Amino acid sequence: ASASSALSLVSNPNLSLLDSELQVVEDCKEFPVIIVVVGASGDLAHKKTLPALFSLYYHNMLPYCFAVVGYARSKLSTEAFRDVVVSNLVCRTVDRDHCEPKMNSFLERCFYFSGQYDSLQDWQTFDRWLSEDIEVRLRSSTYEGRCSQRASGRLFYLAIPPSVFADTLRGIRHGAMAREQLGAWTRVIVEKPFGRDTESYMALRDVVAECFPEEAIYRIDHYVGKPLVANLTTLRLGNFVFDALWNRHCIESVQVVFKEDFGAEGRAGYFDAYGIIRDILQNHLLQVMSIIAMDPPASPLAGDINEAKLRLLYDMKPLHAKDFIVGQYDRYRSERGVPKDSCTPTFAACVVQIDNERWRGVPFVMLAGKALDERKVYVKVAFRETSNQSFVPEELRNKRNTFYIEIQPRPAVELSFITKTPDLEGRVVQTKLDLVYNESFVVEAQDMPDAYERLISDSIVGDRTLFISDAQISRAWELFDPALKELERDPPTQPVIYPYGSKGPILPETLIKKYMAGKM
Ligand code: NDP
Ligand code: BG6
Repeated sequence: ASASSALSLVSNPNLSLLDSELQVVEDCKEFPVIIVVVGASGDLAHKKTLPALFSLYYHNMLPYCFAVVGYARSKLSTEAFRDVVVSNLVCRTVDRDHCEPKMNSFLERCFYFSGQYDSLQDWQTFDRWLSEDIEVRLRSSTYEGRCSQRASGRLFYLAIPPSVFADTLRGIRHGAMAREQLGAWTRVIVEKPFGRDTESYMALRDVVAECFPEEAIYRIDHYVGKPLVANLTTLRLGNFVFDALWNRHCIESVQVVFKEDFGAEGRAGYFDAYGIIRDILQNHLLQVMSIIAMDPPASPLAGDINEAKLRLLYDMKPLHAKDFIVGQYDRYRSERGVPKDSCTPTFAACVVQIDNERWRGVPFVMLAGKALDERKVYVKVAFRETSNQSFVPEELRNKRNTFYIEIQPRPAVELSFITKTPDLEGRVVQTKLDLVYNESFVVEAQDMPDAYERLISDSIVGDRTLFISDAQISRAWELFDPALKELERDPPTQPVIYPYGSKGPILPETLIKKYMAGKM
């Protein structure tokens, strides 16, 4: 088992571990770590990073000896920071009684430092404070008696806008590295978006390479850590019924769809400069699609999976404006911070073609929209029609067997098929077999681990399986650059305006029909 899965096993007393696995767990948990949340005053830190850290602590998945340190420009005391942290923590339904004492002991391990991202002096002062105060407290007996006297590893989580990445990476490199000579590691988690296009990504990549070796960088795409996405490889490859049918001879089309029922409210500064294609399609949906469509990797190891995903990305044809329908919800231009003439898409749908033996001719639709009628993310695989049409009544001949994977909000897997009703009438209908996670695995929605928990835990134990490689990001930009350039050239493409809360300018099924009819 990987170190992280071993960690999750150890939190389950009903499962026994091999001695070697236990050793990995103990080694990781014995190693003290300081987790620095850079941009700790912001939205991502409050909504995702800090709650995920608490949840890991609650489930005994953090090292015995850890501290969470917020770094940002905002002037906050540690007490004020703890107030913000606690207001964002949630208890899962299981063991709620134990939650409050755990929250209090988590808060005791939270600290805050106010500094500029571009000031080497601030980073050096921060470093001294970590070594002379935080690390000393970590080793003191007020913390778990089991704390090792080794130098602490430092995990920097960059929850800041891309515009301050470079200064921050240089500040950490030259001012705040862990004591490597004492065997401690420094790791950096970087959030998407990774640049705006190939050119800006290359510039960012140069700064990263100047400061850190590749193995110290963990590029997060949190969609890859969502339970249903992390399970896609097993579903596809661990089951003969799917593995055997996973090709153009049996599959007619694939949809990867992201729908949100709220807009870009409050994030205009970021969103208007990026738009939905860079925010969702180029990363989250492309990652999901590459897992769905890759050839079977040689093994479930990180290197093999990443290689298979990369090969798939090279088989995809680069996208152009003609492959897209772009839209914008009607209230977008009147939101605070959005220019009155903004053409930034809040909706985009495209057909992706994969030029390889497995998929040639099969349309893959990627669709993402904000301010739509519902919040839902799913993959829908439609199989070809059966050759035994005489068994299918006329009115059902346009129906297909579909394999539907709902990533959120109700994680589920469904297979639809044609059957006869058991009554005397014996009607032929389409129905489904389903596996609803919250019912089958007796997990309440809030008990399901959040993607960030899995990914942060993996970065602490050094498991890179679910992180995105540099080569994948470079190729992802190559695929989207031509379309983005064409859509954004002067004058830019006018998006189709759609009502807030509607289904958006086009449905995925309609797009597939257009493509099949040669109208795209
Ligand atoms: P915020 O706008 O909340 O920024 C985070 C912090 O960065 C702020 O609290 C602020 O801290 C500092 N900051 C903001 N703007 C600037 C600026 N122009 N110059 C210097 N410092 C600035 O962003 P988010 O937390 O929403 O996002 C952070 C990163 O994570 C982004 O790259 C985003 O794309 C990504 N992300 C966000 C998600 C989310 O759900 N929010 C999800 C996935 C990725 P201070 O002023 O105190 O220094
Ligand atoms: C982020 C995007 O990466 O993902 C947001 O920047 C989007 O625009 C968010 O809302 C969606 O994440 P989730 O996990 O809530 O589906």
